[in-house]
Amino acid sequence: MSGAGWRPCFLQWRRKITKSFWITKIFSTFARYFYEILGKIMGLFDFFCRKKPEAKLFYRTDVHSHILPGVDHGSQDVVQSLEMLRAELDMGIDRVILTSHVTAETFENTVESLTSAYELLCAAVRDAGLPVELYVSAEYRMDDYWDRQWAAGTVLPMPGNFLLLENSFQQERLGLEPLIYELRTKGYIPILAHPERYGYYGMRTTRYASLHDAGAKFQVNLLSLAGYFGKHAREAAVWLIKNGLVDMLGSDMHNIEHAQIIKDYLRTRDWQKLRAIVENDIINDRVR
Ligand SMILES: [Fe+2]
Repeated sequence: MSGAGWRPCFLQWRRKITKSFWITKIFSTFARYFYEILGKIMGLFDFFCRKKPEAKLFYRTDVHSHILPGVDHGSQDVVQSLEMLRAELDMGIDRVILTSHVTAETFENTVESLTSAYELLCAAVRDAGLPVELYVSAEYRMDDYWDRQWAAGTVLPMPGNFLLLENSFQQERLGLEPLIYELRTKGYIPILAHPERYGYYGMRTTRYASLHDAGAKFQVNLLSLAGYFGKHAREAAVWLIKNGLVDMLGSDMHNIEHAQIIKDYLRTRDWQKLRAIVENDIINDRVR
């Protein structure tokens, strides 16, 4: 090649190399962005398609419910009761202990009033073909009315002689330990309903421990864990779980909205974590 000819040739090759360099760079940049966007779209697709955790409980027996129709401020009629029982079945519960309020002045239920509502509900459940076992008991407020019912021997325990008892929300029952002792010596197993909800306990950890040591089983509400009763009740419920003081979980559902709140909560990571801690302590299914 002559001295005059090599320069145009060099320039021609340089133009070609420069052009292919830019084509490659543009193509690779485009490909990188394309794969990045595609990855994000696939991530979104995965997020929306990911199977949500099932809203199922790990036990079959709800030990605290207000599903019995027309005897307290829970279910008002059989239609509402059936709707709530269907929600229980959705959550894997097929044994329901009906624990309507028995409280001085407000809900002075008796064995007769509770039993007749129970028979009405059992007939409706049979007609509807719901595969659920029902047991009638009550949630007894430890007040004067309870004292009279207890003295007269007219209380309705759950199977296994469990009795669900609640404190007033203003103050703890005076002489709670002697009552726990008396119940136990007579063959009953007292369950303290929702200990996390009595604001006066706060984080009195020694009080919780002494009541539990005295022989009261502790039943925490799923609604409390879901935050329905506020920050303090939830914190106390979580503390009780983390300290191994929870024996039973209950819905304490009064209506279908409560059931929906619990169902939504069962799909959360918070529940998955707490469930792993509490699972082996729970004795709901021993109520038989
Ligand atoms: Fe209750």
